[in-house]
Amino acid sequence: MQYTSGMEKPKVFVTRIIRDKGLDPVKETCQADIWPEEMPPSREVLLERVRGVDGLLCLLTDRIDGEVMDAAGPGLKVISNHAVGFDNIDVAAATARGIPVGNTPGILTDATADMAFALMMAAGRRVVEAEKFLRAGKWKTWGPSMLLGLDFAGATLGIVGFGRIGQAMAKRVTGFDMRVLYYDPNASSSTPDLPAISTDLDTLLRESNFVSIHVPLTPETRHLVNADFLAKMKPEAVLVNTARGGVLDQSALYKTLKEHRIFAAALDVTDPEPLPLDSPLLELDNCIIVPHIASASVYSRDMMAFLAAKNLIAGVSGERLEHCVNPEVYS
Ligand code: DGY
Repeated sequence: MQYTSGMEKPKVFVTRIIRDKGLDPVKETCQADIWPEEMPPSREVLLERVRGVDGLLCLLTDRIDGEVMDAAGPGLKVISNHAVGFDNIDVAAATARGIPVGNTPGILTDATADMAFALMMAAGRRVVEAEKFLRAGKWKTWGPSMLLGLDFAGATLGIVGFGRIGQAMAKRVTGFDMRVLYYDPNASSSTPDLPAISTDLDTLLRESNFVSIHVPLTPETRHLVNADFLAKMKPEAVLVNTARGGVLDQSALYKTLKEHRIFAAALDVTDPEPLPLDSPLLELDNCIIVPHIASASVYSRDMMAFLAAKNLIAGVSGERLEHCVNPEVYS
């Protein structure tokens, strides 16, 4: 349905100021209530502001469950998440109410794989630790054994979760003479353009020098990376997580790193986010943590805003979403 000047524009709540590429079309097409603060709206504010809206554009920091959907009321036609991951949304509750849920797949694949690759290199070559060492005035001379790191050529990268981002990670290491294994029970067995070998998880953990996690957070993957998983990794291995914090048992990781049972870890995501400053992980030199920025490139964030807006506008117009995580609502 096209909205013309005589028609009342649909009401939407947008839970944060997103990039103009998305915000501009939302403002043009809708009566948009846009939360202006840097921090997300509180639960009370969210429940209040969604009342009577036709559409909701939310971020991964907003928990959208049945209570929010009911607060919005029966007019809610779409929930558009400004993220590819949608573990912040109770999709079953949305489906039960016939509400399509949109996400933003594809456009942040490269940026996320770039960050996973950067973290893998940084942890393997101790870049952050070396920088801190220099700033602390500890660099007295060039030393033959100073800050030794790992070798990449000839090493094995194990990718857990071989969807778009996992495959993009495999592509990135082809110039580094690395061998690539992957584990993904849902992946198709043929990967024609990628020199990557499918294997079971135990083999991957036993043989990999670098293990990179690329699975969505679901009840099945929560704490997939636990004490048992970490115990199966090589003592000289590096763990990289750019997926979701909940996939990893952080206490188990802390113990493993503290006892130097693996070489290092590098995390873009934590549980909770932000990571409290008293987290013991922050005491460790062999752990790099960045604040969930894997998709933080200009193109990715522009396109995430654009796609989230597109899904929102399609939803409030009664059209099918371009990217819908619960397409069964249409059948
Ligand atoms: C996503 O889109 O799910 C990412 O985690 C955002 O960085």
